[in-house]
Amino acid sequence: MARVVTCNEDLRLLAKRRAPRAIFDYVDRGSYDELTIRDNRAALDRIRLRQRVMVDVSARSTASTMLGQPVTMPVALAPTGLTGLLHANGEMLAAQAAAEFGVPFALSTMSILSIEQVRAATREPFWFQLYVMRDRGFVAELIGRAVAAGCPALILTADLQVQGQRHRDLKNGLTVPPKLTVANLLDMALKPRWALGMLGAKGRSFGNLAGYAPTGRGLATLSQWIAGQFDASLDWADVEWVRGRWPGKLIVKGILDPDDARHAVRAGADAIVVSNHGGRQLDGAPAAIDALPGIADALGGEAELLCDSGVRSGQDVLKALALGAHGTMIGKAFLYGLGAMGKAGVTRALELIRNELDVSMALTGVSRLGDVDHNVLW
Ligand code: GLV
Repeated sequence: MARVVTCNEDLRLLAKRRAPRAIFDYVDRGSYDELTIRDNRAALDRIRLRQRVMVDVSARSTASTMLGQPVTMPVALAPTGLTGLLHANGEMLAAQAAAEFGVPFALSTMSILSIEQVRAATREPFWFQLYVMRDRGFVAELIGRAVAAGCPALILTADLQVQGQRHRDLKNGLTVPPKLTVANLLDMALKPRWALGMLGAKGRSFGNLAGYAPTGRGLATLSQWIAGQFDASLDWADVEWVRGRWPGKLIVKGILDPDDARHAVRAGADAIVVSNHGGRQLDGAPAAIDALPGIADALGGEAELLCDSGVRSGQDVLKALALGAHGTMIGKAFLYGLGAMGKAGVTRALELIRNELDVSMALTGVSRLGDVDHNVLW
């Protein structure tokens, strides 16, 4: 019997059944004791919305803008690594689903399909996320490729120069491409839909890093490779360096502190993303939603404010907007859809959020997202 998908958790459970365990765990889990990943959810769950009645909400809309671009709702697909291993051609399918739905898609440096492969498969350009590696020549090359692909926005990720340890990834021996151990082969045999798809996939390793990432013999685990390549000396001067090479909008992602938010604006950011990397980096960091109001105050509208980490529903989106965000990004919430049902699953994840946002707007008495402020909170 077909499963009726009524919420994001349904997609998560389906993805867990259909995707290989090591990849599902990579998506689903956080760093160390997972205090922060749990707090992201707990903090959002604690917030109560203020019901208002007898307000005419018959002509409401979830439409907005993100970085000047019209969107059908202010929810972008966050850049996520290894997406083309969760589902064959995952980045391409997610980018297509996002474009058809009318929300931005962001491609990760650590994607499986390359900038060029995804661009060739989409009718409009997407946002590109940049990790700054030690080899600045290579970083400049990546920026140039994003320019050539017509990407309107570059997301510089600020919070992963050193990787927070994810116990599951180490225990699962996560590598890219996946190492064919007995345990992995047994697991993949139980996931025939995934395996069949991967036979026809356009890529199985890091598409943007061809000739740069390790392959074949001596394949390092993902965390070892990041430790070797990512540059821990990164500072605000490097952000200015990137700014000088990037003609489009610059988004700095991974901000939790008001001082850092001000630094980012001084370094030339058009937008910042309040984020704890989905609870995957500093364990013990506050929930992103708890850090948001202080950062909104510090910025005072000087840059566009986005928020991610824990957002899985339309109610979550409304809460983030009420606390000062102009828009949100989702990672897990769309990846569960992708792992569950490919492109249709991403579309379903977006539909669920839009419907939840629409109904929650109606029940809090607002018709336009521009009118959402702390008054929608109880
Ligand atoms: C990469 O961005 C990760 O969180 O694994």
